[in-house]
Amino acid sequence: MEHVPVLLQESVEILLGGSRVVAGAAVIVDATFGGGGHTRRLLECGHDKVAVVAIDRDPAAIARSDSLQQDFGERFKLLPGNFSDLEQLLDQAGIGKIDGLLLDIGLSSFQLEEGARGFSFQSDGPLDMRMDPDAGEPAAAIIREADCDTLIRIFRDFGEEPYAGAIARKIVAARVQKPFLTTHSLAQLIADMVPDYKRSRRHPATKVFQALRIVVNDELGALEKVLKAGLERLSQGGRMVVISYHSLEDRLVKRFFRESAKGCICPPGIPVCGCGRISRVKIINRSGLRPQRVEIERNPRSRSACLRAIERL
Ligand SMILES: C[S@@+](CC[C@H](N)C(=O)[O-])C[C@H]1O[C@@H](n2cnc3c(N)ncnc32)[C@H](O)[C@@H]1O
Repeated sequence: MEHVPVLLQESVEILLGGSRVVAGAAVIVDATFGGGGHTRRLLECGHDKVAVVAIDRDPAAIARSDSLQQDFGERFKLLPGNFSDLEQLLDQAGIGKIDGLLLDIGLSSFQLEEGARGFSFQSDGPLDMRMDPDAGEPAAAIIREADCDTLIRIFRDFGEEPYAGAIARKIVAARVQKPFLTTHSLAQLIADMVPDYKRSRRHPATKVFQALRIVVNDELGALEKVLKAGLERLSQGGRMVVISYHSLEDRLVKRFFRESAKGCICPPGIPVCGCGRISRVKIINRSGLRPQRVEIERNPRSRSACLRAIERL
C-alpha cells in the first residue's frame, strides 16, 4: 500500500517558482501531508534554505513522518491538526508569513485502502469516515440519526446524487429493522436499487459515500477557511497551489481565486476609482491543470484531479 502523489512535478515547480523561494530562505506549508510525497519532493528540489511545514489531521499520516525528520532535520516541521485552524497552528509554532501553501485535498490511498477507516465501499469496515478518528461523529451516526429530508439534502448537495430522495427513503425505512454499521451494508442497499449496476463504470454508492465523507469531515467548510487564512499568510510573491478531486471543491477554489484576483469594480467611465478595490492575487493557470494521460494510466486515482494556483501580489 502506498500513495502516489498527484501532479507532483507541476505543483512543486509552481511552488518553488515563487519569488521568495527563488531569492533565498522560504517556508512552504504542505497542509495535506498524507504520505509525504509532495513534502519530500519540495525538500529534495528546494535548496537548503527552503523549509517545509507539514499539517495533517490524521494521526496515521503523522506517524509516517519519521523518515522525513531524519533526512531533513530542521528543514521539516510537522504540525498535527486541521488545516481549517491554519492561523492558530502557525501562530503556535511561531511562524509568521509563509511563501507557499499546498493543498492536495481529499483522501490518501492509505485512508482509502484501510477498510477499518470506513471510507470505501470496496472493502468492508465500520461506517466511520473520520479523517481524525477522535473528532466529530462517524458516518454511521448520520445514517442512524438524520431525518429523511436531511439525508436527501446531504446526498443531493454534497454528492450531486440524482436519486437522493429514493436512497434516503430506503435508508430510513430499512434502518428501523437493522442499523447500518458497515460500509458494505450501506453500499449493498444502494446497489440493490440499481439491478444492472455492474455494467456501469461507477459503483452506484460512489456519490453517497462522497457526500457522507464531505459532511463527516466538514471538508468544504475547512477548505473555505484555509483558503482565506492562507491568502492572508502568504508573503508577496508567495504561491498557493490547490489540487482538488471533485467539482464541489474545484468550484469553491475557482470562485475564491477569481474573487481575490478581481480589481476595481467601479462602473466604466468613472474618472477616479471609488471602490478602492485592488487585485490581491495573480491567477497562474486560469483553466486549471489536469494530469497528462501518462499520469492517469500510471495512477488512475489522479484522473479527476484539477490543479489551480495563484500568486500573492
Ligand atoms: C490526498 S492526501 C495528500 C497526499 C500527499 N500530498 C502525498 O503526496 O502523500 C490528503 C491528506 O490531507 C489530509 N487532510 C484532508 N483534509 C484535511 C484537513 N482539513 N486538515 C488537515 N489534513 C487534512 C488527509 O488526512 C490526507 O492525509
